[in-house]
Amino acid sequence: MTKKFNRTLVTSALPYANGPVHIGHLAGVYIPADIYVRYLRLKGREVIHIGGSDEHGVPITIRAKKEGVTPQDIVDKYHAIIKKSFEDFGISFDIYSRTSSEIHRKTASGFFQELYNKGGFEEKTSEQYFDEEAQMFLADRYITGECPHCGNPDAYGDQCESCGTSLSPIDLKNPRSTISGSTPVMRETKHWYLPLDKHETWLRQWILEDHKEWKSNVYGQCKSWLDMGLQPRAVSRDLDWGVPVPLPDAKGKVLYVWFDAPIGYISNTIELLPDSWEKWWKSEDTKLVHFIGKDNIVFHCIVFPAILKAEGSFILPENVPANEFLNLEGDKISTSRNWAVWLHEYLEDFPGQQDVLRYVLTANAPETKDNDFTWKDFQARNNNELVAILGNFINRALVLTRKYFDSKIPQIHELTDYDKETLKEFVNVKEAVESYLDTFRFRDALKEAMNLARIGNKYLADTEPWKVVGTDMERVETIINISLQITANLAIVFEPFLPFSVKKIRRFINMDGLAWDQLGRIDLLPAGHQLNPSELLFAKIEDETIEKQIQKLPDRKKDEQAPEIKTTPQKANVAYGDFERLDLRTGKVLECIKVPKADKLLQFLIDDGMDKRTIISGIAAWYKPEDLVGKQVCFIANLEPLKLKGVESQGMLLSVEDSDGALSLIQPSKDVAPGSRIG
Ligand code: 2FM
Ligand code: ZN
Repeated sequence: MTKKFNRTLVTSALPYANGPVHIGHLAGVYIPADIYVRYLRLKGREVIHIGGSDEHGVPITIRAKKEGVTPQDIVDKYHAIIKKSFEDFGISFDIYSRTSSEIHRKTASGFFQELYNKGGFEEKTSEQYFDEEAQMFLADRYITGECPHCGNPDAYGDQCESCGTSLSPIDLKNPRSTISGSTPVMRETKHWYLPLDKHETWLRQWILEDHKEWKSNVYGQCKSWLDMGLQPRAVSRDLDWGVPVPLPDAKGKVLYVWFDAPIGYISNTIELLPDSWEKWWKSEDTKLVHFIGKDNIVFHCIVFPAILKAEGSFILPENVPANEFLNLEGDKISTSRNWAVWLHEYLEDFPGQQDVLRYVLTANAPETKDNDFTWKDFQARNNNELVAILGNFINRALVLTRKYFDSKIPQIHELTDYDKETLKEFVNVKEAVESYLDTFRFRDALKEAMNLARIGNKYLADTEPWKVVGTDMERVETIINISLQITANLAIVFEPFLPFSVKKIRRFINMDGLAWDQLGRIDLLPAGHQLNPSELLFAKIEDETIEKQIQKLPDRKKDEQAPEIKTTPQKANVAYGDFERLDLRTGKVLECIKVPKADKLLQFLIDDGMDKRTIISGIAAWYKPEDLVGKQVCFIANLEPLKLKGVESQGMLLSVEDSDGALSLIQPSKDVAPGSRIG
């Protein structure tokens, strides 16, 4: 049975306020969300779009320490920059607020208290590192030490950046506090846990049975989390930045950023609609849709729904159309390496061209898999699609109207068969675009919209009104009328995608109040209606402009990486006998899965020629587990076994690291039997 909804509550992931936003953010979350809400508004639906900055979490405190300012200074600065970028790109939030607000503190705190009173948490005491000099518990990122995996002396408590392995602080040898430099000690600390294991049964039913329609990337990720079995998750941290845990015995403890951030959607709705927010969050006829990136799936599909369910009076999301990641010129976008196109910088180089970026990022959105943004593609889509098709058609229709009819809409006369065929084609566009937008397929929807411009372009090129001006003025009138009706249709269908350009088109055609339901009609502009002066909508982008952008990137990359990338100096020689003590072999991958709660780790079951063995490897960022099954690998067979995330790793896979830190597995160049010796 399909549910009947009367309003739609759209949320967009709250970006961390510790840096500006880049094209990956826009493509992954904010443009799709904006297209969706603009579409619903144009249809006259009741909809609100909630956004804001995520202003808690350890990285913000680290950045503040580094810069010698307070965390509040950091979030004040970036919240303003991010908010402005979204405004500049026309991301139409009904509210863009922040999680350091008083209203959020109250809401998140109240939520915790409510769950606590209902027995929704488990209390557990565990041992964690404590800095006696600084008198504080240390978040994983505040601890460094030697990586047990590769020997890197500066691995972090949650991850070794040298070998990519996810770590726990207790894995590190010789741990040090980055706050005081002292050696931390273990101390008991109490935290509150959300018992996700107790929510597993209903979550399985709700996601795997009741929401089979979710995008396959979202459904698949949820399924693998559920299949691995859910564990209780701590919802508090020992930290002095965040929403304080509202209990008497919780001094120095705050809510974990991932507990309070999604509650930010609720706080921001309360801030927007203090008297009617409950209608949006507590009525079964509200459709809740979260737009997020793929790294946020588990929090929005499993953790936050469990929190909402435990509270009991809130609705759950109806859909979570998460996107995959956007790469830039073949490389992962990286804030720390400055490998990104920052929105504020784009606008300095391409002032007024927000829609070009909106268009390219939608046409090439990472909807079902990671995708690449390249400047060449940006140029090609602008020149060959926006300029040559959409801009060209509208400009010709308007210029011809000015030339032959003094910018007044001419009469329509008898239609030819060709006219009728053209009109039939464009009548279908509405249904097609709608069905794509309703199912979050924004790339396909945009393609359909562009198709309408293509139909118009072809119509003018085929009918060549300029050739019959001297002989058949009625025919010219009909052709121009039809072309202008198509233009008005374009001003409807492109509004969700290219709001800035559509505003201009509406000004040119002197028609503001077009609604979605009028799409497909050919009586939008009455004969005699006066048009306004027009200008070109899009401009060709030259090779030099693109070259400049491409040049900018490798420079940045080099600048930023210079202090980090050292060609590793050659180590001291070893005797041949020492080398021979290493037992290097080939193996075949029998099974490969992600290690629960360790983003970087894959767990392999290897056929080593004699037996099967388990090896954990920190290469999850570069491979999909299912792609590795059946593949040959090389490994160290006689490395001391090591426990990682509670699993014993019996060896180490050999991989190479490129200059960007990306790992690729070393494989024999032809098929060899598992267990073959390497040397
Ligand atoms: O990944 C991120 O950038 C998080 N700040 C997203 C939070 S979304 C929501 F929970 F607020
Ligand atoms: Zn390491």
